[in-house]
Order: sequence, then C-alpha cells, then structure tokens
Amino acid sequence: RTSHLYKYQGFWCQSREIESTVSFQRHFQARDTNVGLATVPKSGTTWLKALAFAIASHERFQIFSNNHPLLKFNPHDLVPFFEYKIYANDQLSDLSNLPQPRLFGTHIPFASLPSSIKKSSCWLVYICRNPFDTFISSWHFINKIKPRSQAPMPLEEAFEMYCKGVIGFGPFWEHMLGYWKESRDRPHKVLFLKYEDMKKDITFQLKKLAEFLGFPFSVEEERGGVIEKIAKLCSFENMKDLEVNKSGTSIKNFENKNLFRKGEVGDWINYLSPRQVEQLTKVM
Ligand code: A3P
Repeated sequence: RTSHLYKYQGFWCQSREIESTVSFQRHFQARDTNVGLATVPKSGTTWLKALAFAIASHERFQIFSNNHPLLKFNPHDLVPFFEYKIYANDQLSDLSNLPQPRLFGTHIPFASLPSSIKKSSCWLVYICRNPFDTFISSWHFINKIKPRSQAPMPLEEAFEMYCKGVIGFGPFWEHMLGYWKESRDRPHKVLFLKYEDMKKDITFQLKKLAEFLGFPFSVEEERGGVIEKIAKLCSFENMKDLEVNKSGTSIKNFENKNLFRKGEVGDWINYLSPRQVEQLTKVM
C-alpha cells in the first residue's frame, strides 16, 4: 500500500511529484510580487486559496458581484499548485513557458522550495492545522480518491504510517517546523496562520492576511462589509454548496466535492482511541 510513496529530499511523495519538484526547483524564477500559499495536504489549502484570491486579485472590487470567480470556479483552478501545473495532459511541460500566476499553491516543504523563492522578496503564507484533524481528513480523502478496485485503507494502518511521518509531503512535523522557523526568523517573508484561529475569528485573521499581502482593507471597505462578505463567500458552508464544487473536477482530476467534508475543528474525537490520542500527542 505504501509502495507509491518515496522519500525524496527528506519528504514523502509520489514519483511524479519527484519529477515536478525537480522541475520546480530548477526552473521556477520567483518574482518579488509572487505569493506562495504553502500547506500540508488537508490542512485548509482550499480555504486559504479562496481567501487569498478574494483579497489579492483584481476581483476584490467585485466581491459583491454575482459573477465573482469564486462562485464559478474551484479555488484550485484560480490559484494553481505550481508543482502540479507543470503537467499538461499528464506530460511534464516546459516550466519556462508557463504564465506565472501572482498567487500559487505548493505542498513542497520549505527546505525543498526553489532557491529563487527563498532569495527573492516573494511572500509565503502557511496554514497549519492540528495534526489530529489533518490526519482524519487525509484518511477520509485517501479512501475517497482511491481506485474502486483497491480496498479501503483501515484507519489503524493509516494512523501508524502518519505517526511515522509517512504521508504525502510529510513528515508533517518537519513540514510545519520548516515554515514555522522561517516565519519566526523572517516574519515579513512568511505568515504562519492556523486553521483553528481562522475558524475562531475569521475577521481578525482576514485583516492580518490582507495586511501581509499588501492589500489592507480600507475604512470604506470595512464599513461596507467587505470583510464579512469575503468570509462568507469563502466559508465552508457556502463553498461546499456551489454547483462547481458539487459536480466539477479540478487538480489532478479530483472531484471537487471530495475537497469539502465537514470543515470542523475537533472531528478526530469521533475516530481516535485513547491509545492513539496518546501516541500522536507524544509525536507532536
Ligand atoms: P475535513 O476533512 O476535516 O472536513 P485541503 O483544502 O487542504 O485539502 O483541506 C481539506 C479540509 O479543509 C477538509 O477538512 C475540508 O472539509 C476543509 N475545508 C474545505 N474548504 C473549507 C473552507 N472553506 N473552510 C473551512 N474548511 C474547509
């Protein structure tokens, strides 16, 4: 079951992700205006992409429009993952020819990012989620996207692997610490957000994100309800019911509906035994 994951440059990934990481590292020339949204899978990537797009795209000024792109497209279509974007029709394409989006997503750990990202003034936003919930979310996701011919992965098996760090782009602790250390040493370069904080007080976190991205909300925008509008547009409840997210497909042909499950904090309590909680707490 684990044969499709390889450890490369200290993190676990699929073979095609090795190719795309190498290509990303060799060819990506970061510009000072780029913003990378970095995450461990299942930690809130889709949400962060939606929020950053709502804040930093030209469409910010059409936030009240019924035609806003976030109503018609999945956030992964609006903010591509660079390491997946370099595949066109499953063929590795020439990265130098691709149009550079201002916003891009990546799951690659900080240590393996292209050196031009580290050297340039390009910004990074990281979202960190409690590993208990990230694990449960990943386990559901893995079982949803697996080929029908494959048996579901039992929770116990997935849990043991997770605790050993064997999960896409993991170990999760290396991933989180890599970005966390960078945000501590260079807070102007890396903004470290937490899924749980965003759930608790999205208004405060949105202001922080907008300021970091260089697009603070004006007094008129605040008075006009722009922050509340962005929060609502990007909320789990709103996004999961949009037609595009109920029936469309985006990255790597995943069905968009699989990206929206419960969107809650603390769902792990319904799955993990006291022994597993103790084990993962020790790892953390
Ligand atoms: P759950 O499986 O716990 O529900 P990612 O976007 O990194 O793939 O993470 C997916 C997780 O984020 C899923 O968690 C999903 O339900 C949740 N999610 C997706 N969109 C969200 C949103 N707009 N707000 C909050 N959580 C969201």
